[in-house]
Amino acid sequence: MIRYGIVVHGGVGSPIAWKDGCVQAVRRGMGILERGGNAVDAAVESAVTLEDDGRYNAGSGSYLRLDGATIEMDASVMDSCGELGSVAAIQRVRNPVLVAREVMKSPHVLMCGEGAVKFARRCGFSDYYQPSSRAREHYETIRQALSGGRFEEMRQAWKDFDLKRHWNFPVPYESVFAGCDTIGAVALDPAGVLATACSTGGASPMLHGRVGDTPLVGCGFYAGPAAAVATTGIGEEIIRRMLARAVYDWIAQGEEVHRACERAVGGMPPEVPVGVIAVSRRGAATAASRDMAVWSDLSDA
Ligand code: GLY
Repeated sequence: MIRYGIVVHGGVGSPIAWKDGCVQAVRRGMGILERGGNAVDAAVESAVTLEDDGRYNAGSGSYLRLDGATIEMDASVMDSCGELGSVAAIQRVRNPVLVAREVMKSPHVLMCGEGAVKFARRCGFSDYYQPSSRAREHYETIRQALSGGRFEEMRQAWKDFDLKRHWNFPVPYESVFAGCDTIGAVALDPAGVLATACSTGGASPMLHGRVGDTPLVGCGFYAGPAAAVATTGIGEEIIRRMLARAVYDWIAQGEEVHRACERAVGGMPPEVPVGVIAVSRRGAATAASRDMAVWSDLSDA
């Protein structure tokens, strides 16, 4: 049995060599739990650490949308008492997960776009826009593949899509021109409360206004009395399967945590990258169909 602990991931597809960022995130979250803090504070602290790292596709490391300028991010927080908050397609904030935490304290559960940005400003979060060098490099790779007609380098869903017809950015299509990851943390505190916190810059390539699984309850995240779960991968595929809730239900029905995580990954088509982390009082686990930087620290009962 686990008394308290935390598990984090740096996104499916994140190099194992980036594990040091996850170690740091766990250390910060675990420090809160060791001082008797709660699971939400711990999971959010770990998520903020990963958002600020700059290598992962969240917060300061978020990918650019197809215009090469826009950054829209999603984030979520939930605990096993049923409290949740999330933001979708939010721009120009440093830590979307902290805004999700503010939504959690409001009468709403999900805020998006311009309204979410204005809400963030009212909560005291200042303007922040600093695309990382990695995000710019990643964008250039996508731009060259699209402009060179190398659609075989894209995910299946993009191959037959008429991007020019659907272009919805203010700049003209002609003036412009895969990876995917998210960060996530799941925590169990000494009082037995479970929590999850997730954040992402989305899945590349992306149109303006696209929202993935990360802010959608039961898709990118779920927490309840049986477990806390966070997923990473292609949001559209995760949403279709309501993956976080599926993993939660399997654990609630008695399946071991690592088996539930592996079942979720095994049930996804092999060409779709996916990762899952989960924690319950009975165990903690990570599973992924590609490399994924992860770390955990657990204190036994
Ligand atoms: N899993 C991140 C996204 O698809 O937006």
